[in-house]
Amino acid sequence: MTGLLQLLLLVYVTVASEPSCPACSKYDYEEKVLERMIRMEFAFENVLKENKAVSKTVEEDLTRIKEENTRLHATVDVLKDQQEQAERRLVSLMEEIERNQSSILEKIVSDSNTTLEQTIAAFNDMKDQIATPLVYFNAHFPQTTSLSTGEVIVYKTVETNQGSGYSATTGKFTAPERGLYLFFMHTCTSSTKYSYLQIVKDGSVLIRSVQYENNASTCSSSQVFVLLDVGETVWVQCSSGGLSRQLDESHSYRWTSFGGAIIRN
Ligand SMILES: *[C@@H]1O[C@H](CO)[C@@H](O)[C@H](O)[C@H]1NC(C)=O
Ligand SMILES: *[C@@H]1O[C@H](CO)[C@@H](O)[C@H](O)[C@H]1NC(C)=O
Ligand SMILES: *[C@@H]1O[C@H](CO)[C@@H](O)[C@H](O)[C@H]1NC(C)=O
Repeated sequence: MTGLLQLLLLVYVTVASEPSCPACSKYDYEEKVLERMIRMEFAFENVLKENKAVSKTVEEDLTRIKEENTRLHATVDVLKDQQEQAERRLVSLMEEIERNQSSILEKIVSDSNTTLEQTIAAFNDMKDQIATPLVYFNAHFPQTTSLSTGEVIVYKTVETNQGSGYSATTGKFTAPERGLYLFFMHTCTSSTKYSYLQIVKDGSVLIRSVQYENNASTCSSSQVFVLLDVGETVWVQCSSGGLSRQLDESHSYRWTSFGGAIIRN
């Protein structure tokens, strides 16, 4: 458009400044104007052509720039996608690491808990093995008028019987645990009576005692240590019987007793 205006201006200036030519033909001036107008038109066409060519180039350039822009946009979008994906991967990796760490921690805690529990259980086992179980008994009041040789003395009144080793029916103690035991018999006899007693383990004598009282009553005690396996039995028996053999007990002053306890297992 600017090109066209310039052209018109040029025509106007040219026409306006045309000098008069007295030597020329009557139409000389018009001819010249016409000629110039034709030249102008030609030049104008050229300018138009050039303009078209330029605008075509510009259009092509614009199109290229647009395409380039679109491509760039696409590339940027792809890059954005890739960045977002990378970020998502990073986040999920971090989450996984966190989960793994906490599951590793949980495993360590539960493993050490298991180890601790096993240690405690083993310790308790050892403690049970080391600890001496509670086994002891104490009975008295054998009911005798005379004694025969080999007779088992049955102490009828049971004061204590932890571990249930003693039987007031048979008079015998049966070891509920293996271990070292201490037994005692405390024996009282009245005036002019004898007692011939011994503590035996499954029939084997562990300790013997004899006692005779001439006037009033007396008591004496005997003790013995013995190692017992579970189920082995210990009792008191008469080693020499007869009518003068008699045990004495009066509730107020004298108890004729048999007792024992495990010392260690
Ligand atoms: C998380 O633990 C699983 C299973 O043990 C393992 O396969 C994975 O590689 C771990 N992930 C990381 C990020 O350490
Ligand atoms: C450890 O074990 C005890 C007993 O089984 C249980 O009560 C406790 O919850 C455990 N602790 C952990 C952290 O697993
Ligand atoms: C018994 O002892 C008392 C004194 O302790 C005495 O007086 C009495 O004579 C004694 N009896 C016999 C049978 O020895």
